[in-house]
Amino acid sequence: MRQKIVAGNWKMNTSIAQGKELVHGILDRMAEVPQDVKLIVAPPFTHLYPAAAALEGGAVGLAAQNCANHESGAYTGEVSAAMIESVPCQYVILGHSERREYYGETDETLLSKIKLALSHHLIPIFCIGEVLEERESNMHFQVVSSQLREVLCNLSPDDFAKVIVAYEPVWAIGTGKTATSEQAQEMHAFIRSFLAETFRELAENTPILYGGSCKPSNAAELFAQPDVDGGLIGGASLKAEDFIAIAKAFI
Ligand code: 13P
Repeated sequence: MRQKIVAGNWKMNTSIAQGKELVHGILDRMAEVPQDVKLIVAPPFTHLYPAAAALEGGAVGLAAQNCANHESGAYTGEVSAAMIESVPCQYVILGHSERREYYGETDETLLSKIKLALSHHLIPIFCIGEVLEERESNMHFQVVSSQLREVLCNLSPDDFAKVIVAYEPVWAIGTGKTATSEQAQEMHAFIRSFLAETFRELAENTPILYGGSCKPSNAAELFAQPDVDGGLIGGASLKAEDFIAIAKAFI
């Protein structure tokens, strides 16, 4: 059985006070969340420490949204995997399309970030996905397989076994336009079989999350797909009610 996961990527939103309110809003509703669903929140860096204190090492996991591709040193403005581990945090989102697009993150940088994260006991939530033009020109499987080949396929089986994958079609992020459940299932099954070529049966246990305008009204249909193991939620993770409603959408 694969772990069911609903992770909230807050992106660059909320003040510290709003972040605290959101964390408490989630904690107050935890009794509604099925026992077998793991919740993770990914606030901005400045919020990680107070969030860790509020979460008190309980059921809700804590993720950073990025980490540096160097261990330590003269890299002004960067935050290292070791620092994130020391918060303490358990997860780190890597390879989000916004980082690839706006901050020029390449497969090569992402591979070094993933290795650093793993060496600091952080579980990477590795994001992949195609842009609209690539889907429209039927290149989406090629794009996604290249993102997997250049990064995850270079990990040792032991390291790969720890990774969570998030398929986020870029055309669905923040657009209100969701992939259909058929499109999501087709791609998730493709990702799993592609990973199985390198990692064999380990790929059966890899949680593959869907991200891109996932909300309470469409989560159930997406999560009902056999290879969709949960969601990486942007906008709808900023409201505790909506985030919890999504976590309740597994059948
Ligand atoms: P939205 O849910 O706002 O489309 O964002 C998805 C996302 O990018 C999560 O990482």
